[in-house]
Amino acid sequence: MNAMELPRGFRKFSVKERVAALDGLVGTSELENMPVRFSDDALHLADIMIESAIGYMPVPLGIASGFLIDGTTYNVPLATEEPSVVAACGFAGSLVARYGGFKTWASTPVMTAQVFLSGVTEDGANRLRTEHAELDSAVQDVLAPMSERGGGLQELEVIALDEPGIVCVELHIDVRDAMGANILNSAAEKAAPVAARISGGEVLMSILTNAAERRMAGAEFRMPVSRLGRGKRDGGEIAERICLATRVSYENRSRAVTHNKGIMNGISALALATGNDTRAIEAAVHSYASRGNGYRGVSEFTVENDALVGKLALPLAFATVGGATTFHPAAQFSLRLLGSPGGTQLSRIAAAVGLAQNLAAVSALVGEGIQQGHMKLHASRIAWSVGARGAEVPAVVERMTEDGRFSVETARRVLNAYRNTGAGGERS
Ligand code: MEV
Repeated sequence: MNAMELPRGFRKFSVKERVAALDGLVGTSELENMPVRFSDDALHLADIMIESAIGYMPVPLGIASGFLIDGTTYNVPLATEEPSVVAACGFAGSLVARYGGFKTWASTPVMTAQVFLSGVTEDGANRLRTEHAELDSAVQDVLAPMSERGGGLQELEVIALDEPGIVCVELHIDVRDAMGANILNSAAEKAAPVAARISGGEVLMSILTNAAERRMAGAEFRMPVSRLGRGKRDGGEIAERICLATRVSYENRSRAVTHNKGIMNGISALALATGNDTRAIEAAVHSYASRGNGYRGVSEFTVENDALVGKLALPLAFATVGGATTFHPAAQFSLRLLGSPGGTQLSRIAAAVGLAQNLAAVSALVGEGIQQGHMKLHASRIAWSVGARGAEVPAVVERMTEDGRFSVETARRVLNAYRNTGAGGERS
């Protein structure tokens, strides 16, 4: 069975031929055909970015405004399909801004390339440890552009694995504003044959690690607990419950995954908006969450002298040069909106965004719960999905909210009634 037959040789068509072949084949309305309806330039860019490109998957780009980070106000671009992310992030960002905002920090942007060798004896591994000079000079050319910008090779490590004969040579490289994948992989591939010769082993593989353990960034804030009150609970109670919920994420793995997912709602949305590698950033954070004994929540909340103190420290390999950050127009737009930060600065912004997102999620969870806010946002989507447009959307949402019913059937019934009478019909 073939879900959708593509013309023979489709992969080898020009991007415009691919679009012509697909236009109208998959979707029927203007919106359904949206992914393939782009300017020639935009389609050309898509074709350069990936194989067999046909267009784009447009994800909404929004702005969480009013973030105060180290004394500077930022309007943070976030690309996400999830309805509550921008609202929650903006809410917590503005709340924290009233009390001095986020203080952030970042380490030197050091990434690590790994060369794995097989069949290495103990003597071979020791030779690698003592005869660094040749390996250093093997990567000098590749790293020259980095060194000219103040980065370059910082340290070389040799690690013997438990797997017999396997040795890993790690090259720790300051990549400045780049994510570093290309330069690290090139350096690793240059170093690999030299390492194999010195050690008497054979190259198994050479690639960067996305763990980014030496490229850390963090954020913290402090705000009076009195400002956290929600519903029936006062601020002190909410603050204690936020701390307790966070301690739960240290002990309960299943909860930790969701706690961290909430943090990544903001960080990944910023990564996507700025053309960064969302998978690399997520992989690093989840690896960091499972350092030590088991997977745990990565943020910290404490109450000190009637203030809620929130802290977050993560490996964050955000780049502002190289890859899609440099040529994707939407990424360039987002970076300009942020005042054209360097990679380290963008990582600091990301840490603040992650912490804000976590504060918003956990304070709602331990307060009124998240469904109340979510369902209102979700209702707009349901209304849209049954055909409501323009003023019909808020009208249908309002009636569904009054009724407390958020189903497709209700939306359809309310929409029909609205169209027939200009009102939402009889309450059910
Ligand atoms: C939803 O996308 C994110 C939350 O589940 C995060 C959390 O539970 O902490 C609300």
